[in-house]
Amino acid sequence: MTRAPRLLTPAGGTATSSAPPPPERRSATPGRRATDRGTSRQVGETGCRIVDLPRITDPRGNLTFVEGDAHVPFPIARVYYLYDVPGGESRGGHAHRELEQLVIAAAGSFEVVVDDGTHQERFFLNRSYYGLYVPRMVWRELVDFSSGSVCLVLASRPYEEADYFRDHDEFLAAGGVRGAGA
Ligand code: TYD
Repeated sequence: MTRAPRLLTPAGGTATSSAPPPPERRSATPGRRATDRGTSRQVGETGCRIVDLPRITDPRGNLTFVEGDAHVPFPIARVYYLYDVPGGESRGGHAHRELEQLVIAAAGSFEVVVDDGTHQERFFLNRSYYGLYVPRMVWRELVDFSSGSVCLVLASRPYEEADYFRDHDEFLAAGGVRGAGA
């Protein structure tokens, strides 16, 4: 049984949101799952949040699109994706000085563990129409990839190695919170 996207608290509980579910653009109801309702718009203490993406459902197959500055709060400068991730492997393990990202489970599922130096949160992604917005200065680890999963990332800047913190202690020493230097 698949799980709906949700924010997991560090203690393992599930954070809830009182916000109503977003309006949906549907031409039909194929693929609708009972677990879809009320699971979005979850905002965490790190500034990471689940973004509801448009979905055009269709008996021929569903479609989701993303427009920079509209569905994500930045112009999209780069797209990359992770795939063929072996079982038990993790990705990420870094933070960015300036980069903002939207992380989407385009196929399958995985968890994103985020840490702003003060708070840690876990977001479970398993729908192609939810994205996880990750602001600058947030450490992230991507774990528990399901078989065949694809992690699609929309990024606000080109690839710049100098933008990375790859050492967690260095990240903490630099402020470690998204407000640092902002
Ligand atoms: P990295 O960002 O560390 O991967 P992860 O998704 O696990 O966080 O990148 C892995 C390697 O790929 C590293 O050598 C840099 C290179 N890379 C690029 O050349 N361009 C890119 O856009 C990205 C994301 C990575």
